[in-house]
Amino acid sequence: MKKRILTGITTTGTPHIGNYLGAIKPALNLASDFDESFYFLADYHAIIKNINNIEVGESVKDVALAWLSSGLDTNNSFFYRQSDVPEILELSWILNCVTAKGLMNRSHAYKAATASNSDDEDKGITMGLFSYPILMAADILMFNATHVPVGSDQTQHIEMTRDIAARFNHIYKKTFELPEAIIQTSNEIVPGIDGRKMSKSYGNIIPLLSTEKQLKKSIAKIVTNSLEPGQPKDHEDCTVHSLYSYFASKDQLNELTEEYKKGIGWGDAKNKLFDIVNEELEPIRHKYESLSEDKDLINDLLSDGASKVRVQAKDMILSLRESIGIQKIS
Ligand code: TRP
Repeated sequence: MKKRILTGITTTGTPHIGNYLGAIKPALNLASDFDESFYFLADYHAIIKNINNIEVGESVKDVALAWLSSGLDTNNSFFYRQSDVPEILELSWILNCVTAKGLMNRSHAYKAATASNSDDEDKGITMGLFSYPILMAADILMFNATHVPVGSDQTQHIEMTRDIAARFNHIYKKTFELPEAIIQTSNEIVPGIDGRKMSKSYGNIIPLLSTEKQLKKSIAKIVTNSLEPGQPKDHEDCTVHSLYSYFASKDQLNELTEEYKKGIGWGDAKNKLFDIVNEELEPIRHKYESLSEDKDLINDLLSDGASKVRVQAKDMILSLRESIGIQKIS
């Protein structure tokens, strides 16, 4: 059996270094351990969370550029946009029809959204939000992915995917592999400039695709305490030190820790952080700059990717339709 990884990023917002360190980089690094890898832009997931069409449109481009600039190799992996593969939505409907409503009632995302409602517990809840795990199951099962790298907040969705797959296999015929999650925990800890988890919703991000000047500015804004240069500093619980640790070797990190003890000034510490982040992001930035000038190239890469995966998707749909009784009249 082929080992396949598959993962998607919802296209809301601008990719930041938390996304890069926690999702993009580890997912790309995993490719070498697998026979096939699928990376996609989850744009139909985006409209669940964001009804601003301009933001969604821009984010699709940014997330595509983030993947491509970070080293995604379209010759050795499948890279596509969810909306370019309409078979996924067809599968989503088929899966809707074998999924127990009770399973969706238990979804953490749905429960969290209802938690703040009092009189009408479903106030503001769309069917998109409610059945979102089914669309995610369709993304995964369409290509029979065996492994799905995700953050730990997505664990339940992979369990639900397995439940849904097993249910379909049981009712009709064995069609789907039960995928396993590969939990990427590192993105939970990457702190933003205010020390809380880096997240678009906190407005504390350091963008992945920015100019050198913008990067420097973001790093300058990191909140520190008010200790003066010369005063020893605690490296634990320090955002600058923590961000540094994602880019540094062990030796480099130990060196910085020593300098903290000796009382390095915050300006110098931030310069060190800037240098090390910039070193890693520089090639990404160059790639981004040249790619973003060439919209045709991005669109071509995406449509090529979609054409490739649609061959498999169409086969899957054909066999599913046959299984469920939707076929030519004989
Ligand atoms: N729901 C995922 C998230 O918010 C994104 C996603 C959509 C995904 N479909 C997927 C991830 C399929 C892995 C596999 O992070």
